[in-house]
Amino acid sequence: MNIVICDNYEDMSKKACDLLVSCLQENPNGLISLPGGDTPLGLFREFTAAVNSGNVDISAANYVSLDEWVGLGIDDEGSCGHFNKVNLLDKLEKPFANTYVINGAAEDTTNEKDKLNSFIDVHGPLCVSVLGIGLNGHLGFNEEGVCFDSEGHITALAETTRRVMRKYFGDNFNPEYGITQGLGQIMKANTIILLANGAHKAEILRKAISGPVTNEVPATVLQNHPNAYIFMDKAAAGE
Ligand code: PGA
Repeated sequence: MNIVICDNYEDMSKKACDLLVSCLQENPNGLISLPGGDTPLGLFREFTAAVNSGNVDISAANYVSLDEWVGLGIDDEGSCGHFNKVNLLDKLEKPFANTYVINGAAEDTTNEKDKLNSFIDVHGPLCVSVLGIGLNGHLGFNEEGVCFDSEGHITALAETTRRVMRKYFGDNFNPEYGITQGLGQIMKANTIILLANGAHKAEILRKAISGPVTNEVPATVLQNHPNAYIFMDKAAAGE
């Protein structure tokens, strides 16, 4: 694991974006994945600016979203797809060659999960997987107890995830399930970039980086990846 302690959130976002851009410059046909959540907003801004200024050409590259709440689609505010759309896809002056955003509102979620896996089979493996980390150590919606070699799947959301998601939905929406890329797909990425900022992430980062590798803390699997980078601000590095 490559641990990069950054001065602040902006520095973290910029350094992570520089790595993402250099990976795409080396692999212009690569498949990349970015998460939803609060953490990656700065990276989305940096990356969009890099693409629109011509610093990196994504016209042959491919994009897949990481996860989605079951019940929500790309036009639903608070969904991961909507976050991807508003902060990235709609802002790009030129699109990716192929884009797949998971549709959590699909009636047949099994079919939706199969479509996600097919897209990754055709365009993958991932060149870069960018991730946030949940307070329970989840990556995407790979919750406690997940198989390390899982593909895209539908999962019951952990209690911690359901508590934290209230920041997006309040009492208006209370999803029980998510669709997510699996850890097997994430671990096949050439490069993994995990972002974490804020003191509230310090304890789980310590467990992820230096605790025993166990599916009870899914992010510990990154200790087994040969090319994983963890970018964190000083507050998240506190422990
Ligand atoms: P956050 O979510 O970026 O909103 O903290 C991270 C996650 O739960 O994966």
